Amino acid sequence: MAKFLVQKSAPLRGEVKISGSKNAVLPIMAAALLTEEKCEIKDVPALRDVEVMCRLLESLGASVEMDLAQNRVQIEASGKISWEAPFDLVKMMRASILVLGALLIRTGRAIIHLPGGCAIGKRPVELHLKGLRAMGVDIDEAQLNRGIVDAKVDKLCGSTIYLDFPSVGATEVIVMAATLADGVTILENAAQEPEIVDLANVLNKMGARIKGAGTDTIKIEGVERLKGVSHHVIPDRIEAGTFMVGAVMTGGSVLIKNIVADHLKAVIAKLRECGAEIYMTDEGLVVRGDRGPVNSTDIKTLPYPGFPTDMQSPFMALLTVAKGPSVVIETVFENRFMHVGEFNRMGANIKTNGNCAIIPGDKALQGAQVVATDLRAGAAVVLTGLVADGTTEVSQIYHVDRGYENFVEKLRALGANIMRVEE
Ligand code: EPZ
Repeated sequence: MAKFLVQKSAPLRGEVKISGSKNAVLPIMAAALLTEEKCEIKDVPALRDVEVMCRLLESLGASVEMDLAQNRVQIEASGKISWEAPFDLVKMMRASILVLGALLIRTGRAIIHLPGGCAIGKRPVELHLKGLRAMGVDIDEAQLNRGIVDAKVDKLCGSTIYLDFPSVGATEVIVMAATLADGVTILENAAQEPEIVDLANVLNKMGARIKGAGTDTIKIEGVERLKGVSHHVIPDRIEAGTFMVGAVMTGGSVLIKNIVADHLKAVIAKLRECGAEIYMTDEGLVVRGDRGPVNSTDIKTLPYPGFPTDMQSPFMALLTVAKGPSVVIETVFENRFMHVGEFNRMGANIKTNGNCAIIPGDKALQGAQVVATDLRAGAAVVLTGLVADGTTEVSQIYHVDRGYENFVEKLRALGANIMRVEE
């Protein structure tokens, strides 16, 4: 198994170009099933999850050309489409559920074996299914009790659907299903993430009629058919946030290129509270942590536009070296503090109680053998390794490879002392 070896590093300096968004490209790839015409997606990040989604679409009958060296994927779902997603692929990536709406549109059927819970929570899909039932989809209850979504429908009909929680995946699945349903669908308490807006932009370019993406109410007027599309994926706001935190916690100065600062308002505000200097230039966003000590601050994760849960562990890395105590409250996932134990191996002395963590700060961290407990936590322990004395050895780094393209190369270009070793 591969590992990262991370040594205490000089302040990060230089520039980094952010890759396309993993959480935008995955639903957009699923949306290619909604048309028989060619869909060309650019600025696709070369990530393991993208490869898995390509294999999933191929297994369903689409033809997929993946050229990740050029960060592009071409998908043409013109042939017969199968309605059963192979479990060996679904268990590798829970985002496989994103094909559910498109499969029902194309074939009137969908069988997807749900993976179990994961490090950060049980990841239910009842909101996805609530929306589809409202649109006339029949879900086999006995199969569902066995962890299998077995759905069928003759014709999807528009409906008004309220999401009890603004679930990103449920919003994406329902919006995709509604694009070709009969009539109008109103989705209330919808997720507002930028990745939802990017998906809606792609679907509208394909001929869909979607209004309100990015707000809590999305209206979708069903149309007869959708056509092919060519689209550049938005930059990955979480990768950008991760490098911004790295710049601040190492006391460096980094130019972040290919970024939409508007997608990171909460993270920018919080980094400024920690004393960072952040400003936009023609080339990108400059993030400076060399203006003084890192102040402590408190974080509460919320659905967008609140502070993103995916930035919780990278930001906690920063707070371990901030001056004074900080409080982090995780409200989105029920078990997203697995990284606390890893920070504590390095001397962070963090205490947790339920969804609340107290980070004392003012710590001189020591390198240790740590584990990446999810893809964002893996990046977070790399960041603490950059400021810890000695060597930090990070294992289970396949998690990191799922969400960060060329992570080691990008960090090394900023002066980080990190290398990947095969065991
Ligand atoms: C997406 O996951 C992202 N993944 C996650 O990023 C991200 O953390 C999450 O949204 C929240 O922003 C992709 O886009 C591929 P949710 P998703 O449905 O859609 C509960 C990463 O690091 N919920 O918004 O699965 C659920 O249990 C990954 O890139 C229900 O209760 O997230 C969770 O507590 C990790 N019932 C909360 O909502 C449901 O039916 C957020 O889940 C659905 C969700």
